[in-house]
Amino acid sequence: MSAAAEAAATFQAVHGRTPTGVWSAPGRVNLIGEHTDYNDGFVLPFALPHRLAAAASRREDQVLTVSTLGSDGRVQDSGPLDITTLSPDAVEGWAAYPAGVTWVLRDQGFDRGADIVIAGDVPSGAGLSSSHALECAVALALLGLAGVELDDGAEGTPTRQQIARWVQRSENDFVGAPTGLLDQTASLCCTESHVLFLDVRSGQFEHVRFDAAAAGMQILVLDTRAKHSHAEGGYGERRRGTERAADLLGVKALRDVTLDGLPSALAALPEELSPLVRHVVTENQRVLDTVDLLKAGKLAEIGPLLDASHESLRDDYRVSSVELDLAVDSARAAGALGARMTGGGFGGSAIALVRESEVDTVENAVAAAFESAGLRRPRAFVAVPSRGAGRDGLPA
Ligand code: GLA
Repeated sequence: MSAAAEAAATFQAVHGRTPTGVWSAPGRVNLIGEHTDYNDGFVLPFALPHRLAAAASRREDQVLTVSTLGSDGRVQDSGPLDITTLSPDAVEGWAAYPAGVTWVLRDQGFDRGADIVIAGDVPSGAGLSSSHALECAVALALLGLAGVELDDGAEGTPTRQQIARWVQRSENDFVGAPTGLLDQTASLCCTESHVLFLDVRSGQFEHVRFDAAAAGMQILVLDTRAKHSHAEGGYGERRRGTERAADLLGVKALRDVTLDGLPSALAALPEELSPLVRHVVTENQRVLDTVDLLKAGKLAEIGPLLDASHESLRDDYRVSSVELDLAVDSARAAGALGARMTGGGFGGSAIALVRESEVDTVENAVAAAFESAGLRRPRAFVAVPSRGAGRDGLPA
């Protein structure tokens, strides 16, 4: 069953009526360009086929209810949330994500109550942006209930990038996670068969064709099922480090440091900041190089850039983990043309560029490596670039 059909059926079961509409949003992987977004840099994600859908109906009051259908088939309920009194820190756990989006939209004048039911198949805690898929689906549902449909050309309709910024605000200021713009923009702006080449500073993006199968390849996602957390610790620390480095260098963001200017920038910085800066500057260049190769029809040649990205994240940015390194190393040893961690790191998922004929071999080799290390077998699946967030038809 599609995420939309599942959300609509669960809505019917929970509320005893059909929802007004269903809106859904995908998870993502980032092909390359990691920890560059909050440095005004470049990213290159694509949307996964996995989606979270929000089936929703208006309420006459200013109360929000959210129910989610878990992978165990159980429904969890946020309880009634008063939209007029929502404030950061007042809502805990998963309900903070939909509540945060509601809080931001309230400030934009969208303050009507809603009943929302979420269902879908984006793995949670896997670094594949399930929380952003949830936030984006809820944002579209609340806007849709208010009569705002994306891409309809009506005056005053927010753009997808605008909604991404609202979702970022909810994440930063309500949930308390200091994340950048990568995940929301990917969920909202990606399209089928393409990666999204986003310049975070300007907000401009370009869809670059990415048809791995046509080149006899696949992207294998390896979810290590090891936990990660952005809200605390490592992520914020790295972010603050890069911001401090930009300050010390007298630039707005590390985006402004060029590859040629890197040696003198490094010479001017305290030792502990150098590796962070080296990662961001070289990673931005790797995104540009990857885009050039894709545009030249040389998809099979991006492997070394993926490898170099992983090494930089592991050794300079230090956001990899034992499990991610094992996934990457064992995939490469089994024939992957390139592999890297994807997303924020500290656990989560890796991706590998694999010849179509070798997908099973690589997957099995990674599983065997995890077994010998006494670790849980990663969840593995092949991912093709899929459509971004939008309204779904109501199932008949
Ligand atoms: C997480 C954040 C993104 C981005 C990545 C690292 O996914 O949500 O904004 O910073 O980490 O590239």
